[in-house]
Amino acid sequence: MSSNIVLIGFMGSGKTTIGRALAKLCNTILLDTDSLIVSNYNMSIKQFFHSFGEEKFREAEIFLCNWIKQNVNNTIISTGGGLPLRYNSRDLGNVIYLKVPFSKLIERIQREGVNKRPMFKDVDSIINLYKQRISYYESSANYTLNAGDDIKNNAREIFNYVKGC
Ligand code: S3P
Repeated sequence: MSSNIVLIGFMGSGKTTIGRALAKLCNTILLDTDSLIVSNYNMSIKQFFHSFGEEKFREAEIFLCNWIKQNVNNTIISTGGGLPLRYNSRDLGNVIYLKVPFSKLIERIQREGVNKRPMFKDVDSIINLYKQRISYYESSANYTLNAGDDIKNNAREIFNYVKGC
């Protein structure tokens, strides 16, 4: 694998967990854009939004993507759910869209805690956000995975797809 594998999708689609399993399979590491922002700014995503607002968060994501593009290869990149709207994720590598039914996403978001996710206002607003974003995910993707609950299986399917590229 020379190019990165970039995981995109809505909040709760499993980008980080699947990315971790995929990194193991590919014998490489996972870079998670949210975690990189947390470590570089020394604050949670929620705090970042609270202190600087969404626009600054998007700028931080773009800065990070430009750095990844110039410096990173052979790596699994898991992205924040809004990243493909402002950055062409194909510039970072082979893009995999993790497609998950909305009912499942909302269940996971609520289970994991809506407080951690500053984009979550209420269920109606999240439905709208989801509708607005589907076309970005679809048009950014080189491959769409119908991601289920079996993490290893999801990672294996991506691994098999990438092997054939
Ligand atoms: C966001 C998703 C979050 C995080 C931030 C904004 C979004 O990442 O980047 O809260 O706009 O959808 P996850 O998709 O990992 O939850």
